[in-house]
Amino acid sequence: MCGIIGYIGKQKASPILLNGLQRLEYRGYDSAGLAVLEKGQFNALKRTGRVENLRKPVLAADSQARLGISHTRWATHGGVTEANAHPHVSWDGRLALVHNGVIENYKAIKRELEAKGIEFKSETDSEALVNLIAYFYNLELKESGKSHKQALLQALRTALYQVEGTYGIGIMCTDLPEHMIGARKGSPLVIGVGKGENLLASDVTAFAGRTQNVVYLSDGQIAYLSEEDFEITNIDAETVSPHIDTISWDIEDAELGAYPHYMLKEIFEQPMAIENAMRGRFSQDGSTAQFGGLNIDPRELRQIDRILFLGCGTAWHSCLVAEYLIEKYARIPVEVEYASEFRYRNAPLDKNTLVFTVSQSGETIDTLEAQREAKRKGYRVLGITNVVGSTIARENDGGIYQHSGPEIGVASTKAFTAQVHIAAMLALYLGRMRDMSFSEGIQIVNALKKAPGMVAQVLNQTEHIKEIAERFAEKSDYLFLGRQAMFPIALEGALKLKEVSYIHAEGYPAAEMKHGPIALISPECPTVAFAMKSEIFQKSLANVQEIRARKGPVIAITDAGKDFPADLADAVIEIPEAHEVVQPVLASIPVQLLAYYTALARNCDVDKPRNLAKSVTVE
Ligand code: M6R
Repeated sequence: MCGIIGYIGKQKASPILLNGLQRLEYRGYDSAGLAVLEKGQFNALKRTGRVENLRKPVLAADSQARLGISHTRWATHGGVTEANAHPHVSWDGRLALVHNGVIENYKAIKRELEAKGIEFKSETDSEALVNLIAYFYNLELKESGKSHKQALLQALRTALYQVEGTYGIGIMCTDLPEHMIGARKGSPLVIGVGKGENLLASDVTAFAGRTQNVVYLSDGQIAYLSEEDFEITNIDAETVSPHIDTISWDIEDAELGAYPHYMLKEIFEQPMAIENAMRGRFSQDGSTAQFGGLNIDPRELRQIDRILFLGCGTAWHSCLVAEYLIEKYARIPVEVEYASEFRYRNAPLDKNTLVFTVSQSGETIDTLEAQREAKRKGYRVLGITNVVGSTIARENDGGIYQHSGPEIGVASTKAFTAQVHIAAMLALYLGRMRDMSFSEGIQIVNALKKAPGMVAQVLNQTEHIKEIAERFAEKSDYLFLGRQAMFPIALEGALKLKEVSYIHAEGYPAAEMKHGPIALISPECPTVAFAMKSEIFQKSLANVQEIRARKGPVIAITDAGKDFPADLADAVIEIPEAHEVVQPVLASIPVQLLAYYTALARNCDVDKPRNLAKSVTVE
């Protein structure tokens, strides 16, 4: 939440910062701001709303400055106003700061500083931080006779020792016009190492087109950057040797190309995302999956008698699919918990429990803290993450990278289906270690390999799904019903729809409908019903009958072909008949498209839905 990017180099900073901000906008889009350091003073511009609102005034100003910091905000403390937008300049005009995170004790800090006569201009927690650093900086300069660099780094450390909460910050100082400073705790921060330039950002996507060489900062680290160099120290002023990683994606991966929205682009990238999730991950005999990065001996894995999956939002839904598939095919008891609940609940765990955290971004604060809590208690934690080098990926004991490519749309699509597909591969892998036969393993591997082609078949129905979405776009409530592994897809369908179209939607296990939600059924509340061919197919049909009997419109998603009674639904979306392990992925595509086209019909901003941000890095 909130995106920050800073630049120091030989080029004009402003256009580079604007481009970076645009790429980071999915992290928050309540306001945007940019400050450059020029002729000993800060020139700052801020606008509420999108980065686009900032572009014109910034380009018109045509600053020649080669040093600047910028920010796109997801409001936490203080309303969406220009005064609350970042960068924040300290009361004495010496420091400018951009901040991602939350300073929890900012009120106490603010009170103390106000008592010393320091005036505040905003309602933000971030302004308390910049004023606190500036306060100590002035003291350092007065008392110690240190250089500006030494004084500022010392002031920063003193301030950071005092603050409670999380931060990823970028700082400029009028006394250090050739330098930029960054620090992190709990919020991501990465250095982009360029040629004759260095950057600082919350996310590597901000560096697209400039550099693929990056240094991920860890909590408690402080970076001091010039255009040619950078140094990293920890909070105790000890030097840290940097490790430079190279990011592998191309700039095009983060571009819209010919698509009108990232959400649609990412929906259509799913055949490739699923292919990438499988690449090199099947055994030579074709009977099981293999994962290079688990860092756990198969004999040890064989001893596991319980798995706990942790995640948030859409990732939590993929955990639920994992529960159905792993319990069925590997016969290992699985529990799924919201990471936000787990981290404070002090749940008793058995010593043979394996923990999996699932996160597209690898930065979701609740998932990260849940992972830390599980590790603190001595459990082995593996992760399923998309973003390589993210904090969750770096801090866990091993795991599986999704390789879905950058997901920019706030509504997760391709990352979800890749997680679900990986869950199916994991069920196979764990199953083959236990009671699953060679021939069943072969069958499942073959089924999994067919998934990309089948997803493409569902995508061929886009026009049909668009027409259905438009037909029901004016409705104000939706129900999504599914049984077994379709239940998490019902939850996901409901989340996708409410997230991008703002229609109230609920997902339920189909049979639960009769215990309450049936009261919602009316001609104004369509139901999306999953009716998959299985031993409980007839039960799913019976649920659809019950809705029809109460005049509720039904959109059926089915793999039953002609076995689905045509007059039972107002609209039918057919998906190919597939092995059960592939069904959840296939059934996800129609609900994603339904949400996308419903949102378009309602003139909603699909890529940047109101109040949301892609990466939830505050609690
Ligand atoms: O990056 P993560 O997978 O950890 O994100 C978790 C949720 O914030 C995320 O899935 C959210 O629910 C999406 N906006 C759903 O589309």
